[in-house]
Amino acid sequence: MSALALEVRDVIKTFESDSGPINAVDGVSFRVDHGEFVALVGPSGSGKTTMLSILAALLTPSSGQVLIDGQDLARMSETRRVALRREKIGFTFQSNNLIPFLTAAENVEFMLRLNGNLDKAGKMRSRELLARLGLADRLNNLPNQMSGGQQQRVAIARALIHAPTVVLADEPTASLDTERAFQVVRTFSALIHENNRAGIIVTHDLRMVQYCDRVLQMRDGKLVKELSGKPEILALAKGE
Ligand SMILES: Nc1ncnc2c1ncn2[C@@H]1O[C@H](COP(=O)(O)OP(=O)(O)O)[C@@H](O)[C@H]1O
Ligand SMILES: [Mg+2]
Repeated sequence: MSALALEVRDVIKTFESDSGPINAVDGVSFRVDHGEFVALVGPSGSGKTTMLSILAALLTPSSGQVLIDGQDLARMSETRRVALRREKIGFTFQSNNLIPFLTAAENVEFMLRLNGNLDKAGKMRSRELLARLGLADRLNNLPNQMSGGQQQRVAIARALIHAPTVVLADEPTASLDTERAFQVVRTFSALIHENNRAGIIVTHDLRMVQYCDRVLQMRDGKLVKELSGKPEILALAKGE
């Protein structure tokens, strides 16, 4: 695919609140290429989740554009947008939203089933991906038979299995201890790079940005800083 994986152009999202309208996202523009892993950081309330929901086509911006593989989300029918979300976007949120009555393997296969291409090869790939995430012995476990960290890794496998262009993760390590969190983000980063996905991770834990190629900092709905040099990113991760 030659088009840019993701392009965000001057996006604004306004919510009505008791104290009047507020711009949760206030004129944000950026691009993410295939094979790039970007961290979106910033204080609570700075608009990160709102931004990610817009990228996932779960929320419509008040103005501005989002293009995935060069296609403008606003300039397509709702039917087409639903299909694009299913095929080209993978996401995982802080609460992992696994389906409680499906096993780990079935939760991952579910994305392929939705896209109408769950075949033998797809089942193999689901299992390989789960094994890669350290869950080879958990394939047949239900979510409530797994730890929070294991569930989070199943959710990551589910976000990647259907070969999406864009992979979005909102605080995927929030419920994990430090060592697990590092492990999850490191594997996530490796899978993004190996498979040429465009990855965006929202995290409040700056130590995690060491696995990212670029860091975008938000404040009050705006992008206030961008780091793309490895030394600067490592310094931020170390709290320097
Ligand atoms: N559905 C909504 N209705 C009204 N205000 C909202 C809504 N969603 C988010 N906000 C507000 O938008 C701002 C950004 O929120 P959010 O995107 O959740 O930030 P973050 O993920 O960085 O913590 C906050 O002030 C929040 O209260
Ligand atoms: Mg949030």
